[in-house]
Amino acid sequence: MRTIAALLLMGACVLSHAETPSQIEQAYVAEAAARQPGFTPNAGRGKDFFHQHFGINDKMPACTTCHTDNPLAPGQHAVTGKAIRPLAVAANGERFTDPTKVEKWFGRNCKEVVGRPCSAAEKADFIAYMNGKL
Ligand code: HEC
Repeated sequence: MRTIAALLLMGACVLSHAETPSQIEQAYVAEAAARQPGFTPNAGRGKDFFHQHFGINDKMPACTTCHTDNPLAPGQHAVTGKAIRPLAVAANGERFTDPTKVEKWFGRNCKEVVGRPCSAAEKADFIAYMNGKL
């Protein structure tokens, strides 16, 4: 238990200093591996997660509701209609460069769409997808 806590703390420290998408992804990988030894991120799983319909929220059933099916494309907020810049790093160099922003939006969107916080493994897979070849 104490080892896991220490590893989680390490993950949190790495995260607070991270500033590239790969560093932020690695911080989530470290956090996930603390719970699930040998965890490796997978862009394919991230893609499935992005497209999954969770059936929790009728107004926003999936991440794609606001971010569209294509992470390279601009999105639109399903409720407010506000424009959202693309999520993919290839189309928007500001994505996944600010750990506080990343945590804030995973927090809000996972709660609303998935109905619970996303796990570190899900976050690592999601960034692997958004930071990879699309
Ligand atoms: C109701 C609309 C909506 C839905 C549905 C939605 N998002 Fe978002 N998302 C936003 C908005 C608005 C922002 C912040 C504006 C921006 O960064 O362009 C954002 C930003 C983000 C960011 C910040 C990335 C960064 O570094 O800039 C992440 C991560 C994210 N969303 C993940 C998700 C995930 C995962 C899901 C599905 C579980 C999801 N979003 C579903 C509206 C949405």
